[in-house]
Amino acid sequence: MLNTRALSAQIIYAVLDEQKSLTACIAQLPKDLSASQKGQIQDFCYGCLRQFPKLNRLINQLCHTKLKPELNQLRYLLAIGIYQLLDEKAAEHAAIDETVEASKQIGLYAFTNMINAILREFQRERETLVLDNPQDVQATHPNWLVKQLKQAYPKSFKKIIAANLQQAPMWLRINQQLYADAQDYYALLQQADISFSADKKNPHSIKLAAPTAVDKLPNFFDGACTVQDAAAQNAARLLQPQDGERILDACAAPGGKTTHILELAPKAQVDALDIEVERLERVEQNLERLNQQAHIIAGDASEPQQWWDGILYDRILLDAPCSATGVIRRHPDILYLRREDDIQQLAQLQQKILKQMWQILKPSGTLVYATCSVLPQENKQQISQFLAQTSDAELQSIFASDTAADPGWQILPNQQNMDGFYYAVLKKQA
Ligand SMILES: C[S@@+](CC[C@H](N)C(=O)[O-])C[C@H]1O[C@@H](n2cnc3c(N)ncnc32)[C@H](O)[C@@H]1O
Repeated sequence: MLNTRALSAQIIYAVLDEQKSLTACIAQLPKDLSASQKGQIQDFCYGCLRQFPKLNRLINQLCHTKLKPELNQLRYLLAIGIYQLLDEKAAEHAAIDETVEASKQIGLYAFTNMINAILREFQRERETLVLDNPQDVQATHPNWLVKQLKQAYPKSFKKIIAANLQQAPMWLRINQQLYADAQDYYALLQQADISFSADKKNPHSIKLAAPTAVDKLPNFFDGACTVQDAAAQNAARLLQPQDGERILDACAAPGGKTTHILELAPKAQVDALDIEVERLERVEQNLERLNQQAHIIAGDASEPQQWWDGILYDRILLDAPCSATGVIRRHPDILYLRREDDIQQLAQLQQKILKQMWQILKPSGTLVYATCSVLPQENKQQISQFLAQTSDAELQSIFASDTAADPGWQILPNQQNMDGFYYAVLKKQA
């Protein structure tokens, strides 16, 4: 089997040169890797993508010949080597020797001396090299995204960019059906030596001090808790699902919010809809782990006539497909895969789905619109336009500042350690 550096260079190549999703590439790693090997690959891939402009600048400075695009796998191996040499905890000789070994494993025999020489030069010259250049930080984001962030958040866009490059914390949602008193689960975590801090308003939301494998979490496989960012946990709470109600989770996969709805209202009749059949398998697995039941529907939310049974819903959660610009810290590949044109297309799809969902909501029913985006076009502007065009729609204020003129609640990445998220609560007139 290839070593972790060779596998990581191949993944970085798949993301940067073949526009593949980082999550999908990591999911396809060989099954016989140990947890620590998998952790190391994740560290290399996430770390290098978050710092790629800086690593690339250093590579260009240290390489005496220009590396052609055909040698991009070599470039990514060098990036991994320098990334590790920059990490003060790593053993320098291993960083160099294993990178050289990885180059042989992926057939770059002719370049082993060159890789060795460049990494050793970095080691010798690091005091004289400019390691931190503020331009590298902004260069991690495509120009169109910097422009849109700057326009939407003129005072805080630099902070958003910096937050997008941080490692996200691991949040858990404790299953309140099993642990009505969150303290009971806190005790199990303490016994397992897992440090955490609890959200002050929502004791069932906790942030772990360090990422932890799920098989180390007490009773995880019996449904004790779910890995879910605190911002994502707000969506089902804002929906306020009630037992006995008919509820649609309109873009449900992989089911993080479907299962939360059922934890809040275990006797609700929940339909979990998604357009991607394969992703619905994850919803089934999550429901099974949490011992819950929902009716799973494969279908397009923008075409309810194809799957809807004609009975109106009391509540609808529309966790809409979006640019995911609020979760770049969890998916740094978004920086390289998302295109400017996507935003307009996504906004049109969101608008179409929202209008269709409104048609199948009962009078007096509630719809929560949510995205993990920070772009106003997908969020506040989308909802302002919907309110202006829909005479029976009323905005329910989440906070006093949440008004029809400036609707919904926008969380920015890393605000209170949460992902970037947006929610608007809409009520249909009776
Ligand atoms: C943000 S994710 C949903 C995350 C999910 N709510 C959760 O909490 O686990 C958006 C989902 O929308 C689905 N989707 C995209 N277009 C859709 C459409 N037209 N109809 C239904 N689902 C759609 C995607 O397959 C994806 O699973």
